[in-house]
Amino acid sequence: MPGDGIGPEIMAQGKKVLEVIGKKFGHQFDTTEALIGGVAIDETGVPLPDETVKACKESDAVLLGAVGGPKWDTIDPSIRPEKGLLGIRKELSLFANLRPAALFPQLKDACFLRPDIVEKGIDVMVVRELTGGIYFGEPRGTKTENGERMGYNTMIYYEHEVKRIAKVAFEAARKRDKRLCSVDKANVLDVSRVWREIVTEVAADYPDVELSHMYVDNAAMQLVRDPSQFDVIVTGNLFGDILSDEAAVITGSIGMLPSASLGESNPGLYEPIHGSAPDIAGQDKANPLATILSIAMMLRYSFNLTEEAECIEVAVEKTLSQGLRTGDIMDEGGTLVGCTEMGAAVLQNI
Ligand code: IPM
Ligand code: MG
Repeated sequence: MPGDGIGPEIMAQGKKVLEVIGKKFGHQFDTTEALIGGVAIDETGVPLPDETVKACKESDAVLLGAVGGPKWDTIDPSIRPEKGLLGIRKELSLFANLRPAALFPQLKDACFLRPDIVEKGIDVMVVRELTGGIYFGEPRGTKTENGERMGYNTMIYYEHEVKRIAKVAFEAARKRDKRLCSVDKANVLDVSRVWREIVTEVAADYPDVELSHMYVDNAAMQLVRDPSQFDVIVTGNLFGDILSDEAAVITGSIGMLPSASLGESNPGLYEPIHGSAPDIAGQDKANPLATILSIAMMLRYSFNLTEEAECIEVAVEKTLSQGLRTGDIMDEGGTLVGCTEMGAAVLQNI
């Protein structure tokens, strides 16, 4: 699903990578294209047509570009492009969103933090709960009360929702540095106190993983102060939305980072964490690396093709080492290239 803005451009590069990986390792990937977001609204009147849901459910994995743009900013909120994305996450029950934010050594100079902070490395995995919390809680809405407009949403977490995301996070930590930080707002929110209680209970099954808890405001501060203190962060939908952008941008480029959204057994959904970047859409300026790295995640998590995933990751690193840079990661001494050229270099390196 290429979606809107730079979506089609980065997806074109991604599809070529998949083809070349198939050739190199002897696999054939059958792909179908489907509409989502603004383009879907333009063509069908809704951001997530039934055919798209069907096509996703019939697939082994779903790859998404990006959705949204100023063109659809003023339409009825119930059919905004973002509803397409939220809808497909819900339809496929993709409750676990893995957002790794790691600093590529080649991009150290593009990093926003002081060199002495970067020195210690940045390698954080944000595990964000994706189908619950305030994004979906009822009641929600807007109304007029005593002549005054008001809006409201509800943050709800059920035990089963916290348990399953905590398990995913503990498992992820187990495969990494075995440190898990659960982020909440338990000093203020009741829902967070329940969250904290349940995460602590799940920890009993993971004695090898060190669990800590942090309030979200402090976590936002600690992420820029000393990101090296974090290995895996587990948090709810809204806090995870915010913290994953922060974790991403401190690495130097949000244009580099992939994500995976996983459920119990449904096809996983893979997407770059950046948005549709309407300001540079159609100009061949976008960074295709986050999409290409999302394909690596897809091969790893949905197809169990570890070697193939690593091949892509190594090719991306090599491309960076060769000095190729799109505008978002441009640095002194780098060679400025467009989306197509960056994609071609990765293909070459594969
Ligand atoms: C994200 C985005 C989405 C979200 C929007 C586009 C609905 O910000 O994937 O982080 O809030 O989840
Ligand atoms: Mg976001």
